[in-house]
Amino acid sequence: MANTILVGAQWGDEGKGKIIDVLTEQADVVVRYAGGNNAGHTVMVNGKKSVLHLIPSGILRKNKLCVIGNGVVCDPVGLVSEMAGLRQHGIKVTPKNFALSETAHVVLPYHRELDGAREQLKGENKIGTTKRGIGPAYGDKAARVGLRVNELIDSAKLAAKLADRIKENNAVLKSLGAKPLSFKSVFAEYDRAGQQLKPFVQNTVVLLHDQMRAGADILFEGAQGTFLDIDHGTYPFVTSSNTTAGGACTGSGVPPHRMDRVVGVMKAYTTRVGEGPLPTENPEISDLLHNMGREFGATTGRPRRCGWFDAVATRHATMVNGIDDLAITNLDGLDTVESIKVCVAYRRGKTQYDYIPNDVQVLAGCTPVYVEFEGWQAPTVKCRTFKQLPAKARAYAKAIADLSNARLFIASVGPGREQTIFV
Ligand code: GDP
Ligand code: IMO
Ligand code: MG
Repeated sequence: MANTILVGAQWGDEGKGKIIDVLTEQADVVVRYAGGNNAGHTVMVNGKKSVLHLIPSGILRKNKLCVIGNGVVCDPVGLVSEMAGLRQHGIKVTPKNFALSETAHVVLPYHRELDGAREQLKGENKIGTTKRGIGPAYGDKAARVGLRVNELIDSAKLAAKLADRIKENNAVLKSLGAKPLSFKSVFAEYDRAGQQLKPFVQNTVVLLHDQMRAGADILFEGAQGTFLDIDHGTYPFVTSSNTTAGGACTGSGVPPHRMDRVVGVMKAYTTRVGEGPLPTENPEISDLLHNMGREFGATTGRPRRCGWFDAVATRHATMVNGIDDLAITNLDGLDTVESIKVCVAYRRGKTQYDYIPNDVQVLAGCTPVYVEFEGWQAPTVKCRTFKQLPAKARAYAKAIADLSNARLFIASVGPGREQTIFV
């Protein structure tokens, strides 16, 4: 399969977990390179649902090495509990199939408290974060005051640094009207988690290069989506990392010339959870999908905002990520729709945009220009080959891939592994 980067081409929750699980069959190593447990990647195997937050979705397959790279921010308590949950379901997580980077940054309770307090202070202008402390943890990394995994697993270093950091952060928390933290209880909990994680901690850059020398094929599991990227997304309504393909290099230590291919995952429509512009948002399609029991967040349970497929956005995603191949998921979500709209440009006054404007205020003032497709109005969930799909569904899938400037690679018609059509 060669080294493949998989990214979300929209606002997250595109179905990356499902596609990672499918592609892992042909990979040897799966690496998470950005984000933290703000992610929720759903994988359905034989009707059993697993939601992964930090551990790569490849863990559900046997004999695959799963790596949390240096670009991830890791909540150690969350990670230990995720590992325990997997083991309860009979999935092995051992130092043989799972490694954690010693230079990944650690998410601590003051990051979560600050995340919540800042959101509250913003009021109406809030971002709608997952409140997992992601922004403050990356903030500390950039400000060079973060704790890394190699310090977490060394009790003496953890004690010294944590005491310092809690002192400073308590002052900030107090000024924001939030409750200060107790060093003693935070240290006890995080030291315990650190010791539990110690056997998994490695120099993952060296590990990945050793794997490549031995001929391994690596799959890089993106989290979030292109328009949640700190640089390329709808700032400030974004997450705090580089979710786009470039992040796979910096977040893993595998250089750009070793990357062979980029796969973009996109839904056949658009969703977003949290605040910020969503040009094609539409209450009818939101109601339709929510009434089917779908499009509720895998991490926070919040209903996702839904809209028509936005080809301006996905074309922009192809440009920024260098997407070669596209996996279209949730095609079945449109099975009952009579007439399907696709946004092909934005208009604001006399200006037409073919790419997403950088200023969210400008974007919020844009009106989508739509073209319409006849719906197929037939169930697709049992289709297993491209030929078996209704002709109108095939035409729609091809059209949205063309409008996104990349090849149609996979059409997905359900959450299960078997509901995957290779085109
Ligand atoms: P991720 O964050 O990109 O991994 O996506 P999430 O797991 O948060 O959300 C995607 C949702 O869509 C999950 O509930 C998946 O099980 C589901 N899903 C993925 N592909 C398909 C599909 O083709 N059809 C249907 N019905 N559900 C899908
Ligand atoms: P996966 O990997 C969808 C959104 C939040 C919020 C913004 C900032 O499952 O696709 P943060 O907690 O990161 O500071 O929140 O980003 N967000 C996601 N939306 N899918 C995700 O991950 C997301 N991770 C963060 O809702 O709008
Ligand atoms: Mg998700």
